[in-house]
Amino acid sequence: MEAEVELQQLEKEMVRLGKTLVVHLFVLLKTAQNYNEGHGALRSPVGNILGVIGEIHRRNEESSIRAQGGHLFLGEVRLKPDSSAVDPFLFIFDLLKRYGIGGIQFAVTVTPQEIMRFAYVLKEVEPLPYPPDVYIQVIGLLHNKGITSISTEPFVEEGEAEPSDDEAGEDPKAKAKKIYLHTVVAVSEVMDNAKMGQTLRLRKSKRVVQTMIDQLLAAESNLLGLTTIRSHDEYTYHHSVNVCILSLAMGQRIGFSKARLFELGIAGLFHDIGKAEIPEEILNKPTEFSPEEWEVVHRHPTFGVRKLMKLKGLDILTSRIVTGAYEHHMNCDLSGYPKYPYRRLSLFGRIISIADCYDALTSSRVYNRVPFPPDKALRFMLDRAGTAYDALLMKVFVNCIGIFPIGTLVRLSSNQLGVVVGNSGDPDRWDRPTVRIISTIKGEETDGGVIDLGSGDISITQTLDPYRYRLDPSLYFL
Ligand SMILES: [Fe+2]
Ligand SMILES: [Fe+2]
Repeated sequence: MEAEVELQQLEKEMVRLGKTLVVHLFVLLKTAQNYNEGHGALRSPVGNILGVIGEIHRRNEESSIRAQGGHLFLGEVRLKPDSSAVDPFLFIFDLLKRYGIGGIQFAVTVTPQEIMRFAYVLKEVEPLPYPPDVYIQVIGLLHNKGITSISTEPFVEEGEAEPSDDEAGEDPKAKAKKIYLHTVVAVSEVMDNAKMGQTLRLRKSKRVVQTMIDQLLAAESNLLGLTTIRSHDEYTYHHSVNVCILSLAMGQRIGFSKARLFELGIAGLFHDIGKAEIPEEILNKPTEFSPEEWEVVHRHPTFGVRKLMKLKGLDILTSRIVTGAYEHHMNCDLSGYPKYPYRRLSLFGRIISIADCYDALTSSRVYNRVPFPPDKALRFMLDRAGTAYDALLMKVFVNCIGIFPIGTLVRLSSNQLGVVVGNSGDPDRWDRPTVRIISTIKGEETDGGVIDLGSGDISITQTLDPYRYRLDPSLYFL
């Protein structure tokens, strides 16, 4: 494939530029050890660094040197030292580690003065004995010296969790919410970069998906509840995260390994990345699309492949991820789009299309129609099980969200109103979920606590449309 050849060339080019940047940095820091700030001997190393950074930015790539797992990277590309650059590689790696720096990033706006000052920041700080302190001194000095176009990130040992994600004893609900919001931020950054045609950096997304899988395995209902959050302004981001969570919940029930779940999570998170290429005026149009506009919208799975392929070869993506995103609107009976002579959708494609359709139907944003209440959306989809949606996977999906999905507003036989907050894992009790009581028998608002309909004789008599009652079910999960 032509695109793939192009990518391989770009990657080779990045490896070369990365190596050059490491060597020039090495020369600069060595020179700074022997001369005072402002000395003429520094002019040439500073100029060389600026030159490489410029070349990298011209290719729309990330100008950052990172140390991770014993290797140096330029952005996402792993660098391989050849015999001529072993010393500089070892020196830079060791230096970063001793200062607790995991990466140095140069912005497009970086000036020669900043590069010069940066070399002396490291000279001013005594490295070791305790890297977190050293790192804090480094960022303090960067700030004091007015170096705004060079930023750093802390060094993370292989296998070590992000410090902020590791607060022991944290309330599981609060933790789930934090993970959800981190994921929204990660996906919004990637989508915004995709819009501007910049390189997609998946580092953060990879991390949040890993955390999400751990959380899902530990306390699934907390995350599933959060998929009821609706944001009108940030629809695409929330939708992406919801599709990721719902897909993962299905993958987990099918028995996917952690590694496979990770791929599925990334595919779910970026299934709509092709929307970055659709003009905002169309996406946000308050009225019906014209046939021409539909045609553009229908191209987003194909656009998505193009965006995702940009990452291929960079050791992140598998064909499963790309195919899953491509197929998410195709439908099992191939009644959807893009039209392509297929025999059968991939497993990822079938999972993501169910998660995608469910979240889109229950959201208000899509094509500006009134959203379906969760149980109605499920009914709509179950009517299409075996045609548009894989029948077996629909069963798995019902098993995840219940026949009264989380977020459903229900009237109980006791005449109280409640919101479904959890489901029984037992198929025989799917009609008896856990419900948070939100109104008294007289219809007054109340927080009546959570009751398990699986025990006792209260049952659901009716499902109601929360929008008619002007209720936001997600509030009961926050
Ligand atoms: Fe889509
Ligand atoms: Fe979607």
